[in-house]
This record gives sequence, C-alpha cells and structure tokens, in this order.
Amino acid sequence: MKYTALSLFPDIIDAFMRHSIMAKAIERGLVAYQSVNIRDFAFDRHKVCDDAPYGGGAGMLMLPEPVGRALEYVGVKNRFESRPLSGGRDGDEETVVAPAVASAVKKRVVYLTPSGRSFTQAVAHGLAAEQELVLLCGRYEGMDQRIIDAYVDDEISVGDYVLSSGEVAALVVIDATYRLVEQVISPLSLEEESFGRGLLEYPQWTRPEKYGTLKAPDILLSGHHENIRRWRLRKQVEKTLAFRPDLIKKGLEEHRFDAETRKIIDDIAEMQRGEDERN
Ligand code: ADE
Repeated sequence: MKYTALSLFPDIIDAFMRHSIMAKAIERGLVAYQSVNIRDFAFDRHKVCDDAPYGGGAGMLMLPEPVGRALEYVGVKNRFESRPLSGGRDGDEETVVAPAVASAVKKRVVYLTPSGRSFTQAVAHGLAAEQELVLLCGRYEGMDQRIIDAYVDDEISVGDYVLSSGEVAALVVIDATYRLVEQVISPLSLEEESFGRGLLEYPQWTRPEKYGTLKAPDILLSGHHENIRRWRLRKQVEKTLAFRPDLIKKGLEEHRFDAETRKIIDDIAEMQRGEDERN
C-alpha cells in the first residue's frame, strides 16, 4: 500500500509516519509514503492557496490551480482535460511544474471532508485493499468543486463534527487502514477487536491483581479458558448494549450473530424486562 498525502501542512502527517508500527511497516516494505506540500504548486510569488467563494459566504476556499497541479505531479489525471493544466493564470508569474509521474499503479483519490460518506471499519477494509491512496487534505472552508469533479474518487468524513484540518482526518484514515494491510499486524489481533464481529471489545485487566481496593475479576485468574471465553462474550454484549445499541440492532437484522450471542442478548433483554416490571 502506498499513501500519498497532499496537504498545506504535510509535517503533521510526516511526524506520524515516522512512529512505531508505521515506521516498521515502511522499513519492511509493506507501506510506502510520500507527502507533497500543495503550497509548492502555488502559481504566484506569494504562494497564495486560498480565495473567497463566488456567491459570498464565510471563510476561504482552496484555489483549484495549486491543488490540481499537485495532483498531476503525483500522477493523478484530470477527467476532463487531455493535457495537464500546469501553467499559471494569464498575467501571473509562470512557475515550472515538475512533470507528472508516469505510473501504472491504480490510485484512489480520497478527499477528506465533513460532507463525505461516513468512515467505518468496513470502509477501512475497502480502502486497505487499494494499491495507492492519494489523500487530499482540505483547509479553510473547503475546496473548489472543480477539483472534486475532475480528480476525486471518494469523499470521506471521519465523523459528524468539523475539524480545522483535513490532515487529522487523513491520519485517521491512514491509521485505520495500514494496520489492515497484510502482514502489518497479526490476523489474530484483528479478528478479536471491536467491530470485527459486530460487537465492542470486552474489558481487560493486567497485573497487579489488586490495584488499591480494585481487584481483577476472579474468573480471569481461574485459568478456565471456556468459562473465560463465555464471560468475555457476555461482557461484549453488555457493553455494546449500553454504548452502541444500534450495533446490536443492526447485527440482529443482518443475522450476524451466532446462537450463543443471540441467547445472551435475549437473556439480558429478559432480565431488563423483569427489572422494569419490578420498578
Ligand atoms: N475535515 C474537517 N472535518 C472533517 C471530518 N469530520 N472528516 C473528514 N475531513 C474533515
């Protein structure tokens, strides 16, 4: 998997790429990374990359030319033009643009925006299967629509809130996808984690057995693997019912749960009904 990040602040992403498991994945050749500073592709001597939106409204938009030129530099083609739009505007200073990189690799251009489709574990799996993700990070109030129309394949939101920087959203996408790339982490760890089976993860404890007055649950110290497995599954269901009842509803509708999980859900619902009747 190759990640190419286009940003006005590539340092934010570069710092993450130098750390821990990611650095190892890059060293092992499982992940490749390139960052490009969009400002290097500004066409005027002041390196301006934003302007006010036509029709009025708050904030500034990213100019199409620097973004388009940065995309062409990394080998992304404009859907509507047969030749790269590499020049400056009439009357402006011309800067030399590096030639577009010729490549046979299929690139998926993802624009990070709060107006995109929701990013989920399923979307992460889909993106992790791509050969190259070109992550376009917005700043200001957003991007000129012609860039999206001409170059972007996918618009993704990492949540129903507005970030001041697309870089943080790009990092969410990078972090959630690179760990799904084959050999980056063990398949067993992936299988056990939240969302993998439509339930949140069970709570966990480690040494020491006693932390102040709090003790780790006896069952986890019992060494009885089958009891521990059953207990953990019940904890998963309880936690998911408390924090994400929507996941339980969806899992039941889509027949994602096995008989054991359904029985636990029924038992808890039954207990809840009993308690409601007593109150
Ligand atoms: N840029 C700003 N907010 C965002 C969000 N929620 N998701 C993706 N990109 C963003």
